[in-house]
Amino acid sequence: MSRIAVLTSGGDAPGMNAAILAVTKVAASHDVPTWGVEGGYDGLIDGVFRPLVRRNLDGKPAPVAEVEAEGGEGGTILGSSRSPRFFERESRAIAIEQLKEYEITGLVVIGGNGSIAGAHALAAETDIPIVGIPASIDNDIGLTREALGVDSALNTIVEACDNISDTARSHHRAFIVEVMGRESGYLAMAAAVATAADAVLLPERPHSRDEVIESVVTCIQRSFDVARDKTRVLVIKAEGVPVPTHEIVEEATNRLTVNGDRFDIRGTVLGHVVRGGDASFRDRLLAGRFGRVAVEAAIRGKTDVMAGWNVGVDTGEATTDDWIRLFPISDVLRETEKLLDGTSSVSQDRVARMEAIQGVLAL
Ligand code: F6P
Repeated sequence: MSRIAVLTSGGDAPGMNAAILAVTKVAASHDVPTWGVEGGYDGLIDGVFRPLVRRNLDGKPAPVAEVEAEGGEGGTILGSSRSPRFFERESRAIAIEQLKEYEITGLVVIGGNGSIAGAHALAAETDIPIVGIPASIDNDIGLTREALGVDSALNTIVEACDNISDTARSHHRAFIVEVMGRESGYLAMAAAVATAADAVLLPERPHSRDEVIESVVTCIQRSFDVARDKTRVLVIKAEGVPVPTHEIVEEATNRLTVNGDRFDIRGTVLGHVVRGGDASFRDRLLAGRFGRVAVEAAIRGKTDVMAGWNVGVDTGEATTDDWIRLFPISDVLRETEKLLDGTSSVSQDRVARMEAIQGVLAL
């Protein structure tokens, strides 16, 4: 009998639980029970598995209550880890033994680029089909237009910036708001557009510390010019820009103190707030669609592939879902590397689009 296992790995992302629910339900519809692996790759090595289905009266598998109830929640009911042990071949050999012990015939890995790389390493060492689902708020995974968690994270950032703008306008203040994203500026870029920010600071276009501070000072000066009658300035800074937010605030405040009059500048680092919270409609929808494709692929014996949301391309393999294609993980990892070093056409287009609208942001 077939058995699917599912695990979540790396930084959690809203939509992971929705993907677990989708995997469990789709597999059940094929009469395949799903087992959850707790704590990501660490749980795989240590053999911490639990069934995510119960048997209905008719003997068919159906998701346990927790899987159904938590489907829209943020975080992951299975827990997650960043597992240095999984980099070692011996640990992966133990993980493969655990999969055999639990009679697993297909593994779905839900996670970010490190987790997808882990799936690739494992797939090279076992015949058990392994399929990835991209999930990371950073949106830094190659060959998928969006990963799970990105839309929810952006909704959280937009809400936070709206709240900050309320208080900023009341006090005529400038705010530097830092958002997560590790080396990727995607969340900052998208949020800057959605919140009508005045400027955005991105790691994809590296600048010296002085240039970063100078650009913030100029933006605040220009925005608060009497001729403009503006009441708030919002600068979105990506986490990957290596100048700490509090230093930008301090330096800009010092530079903008004229005849004892200070511009009021504040900094807010949103941090992990951005990673939590319920999954948005789009993340739940995407999770359902990724889940279906991943289970169908595993049942068909496909391995070392990732489901990617990619409309209008003819690379990869078509699936039963016209949004989603299956890509060899080696291709995903190559494209991910290019995304991170800025040589991918996707990241270049994103930055070019941002540069093209810098003038609009500053209006
Ligand atoms: O990769 C997701 C992410 O939230 C990044 O945006 C951030 O840099 C990192 O994880 C934070 O990791 P941790 O939760 O381990 O501090």
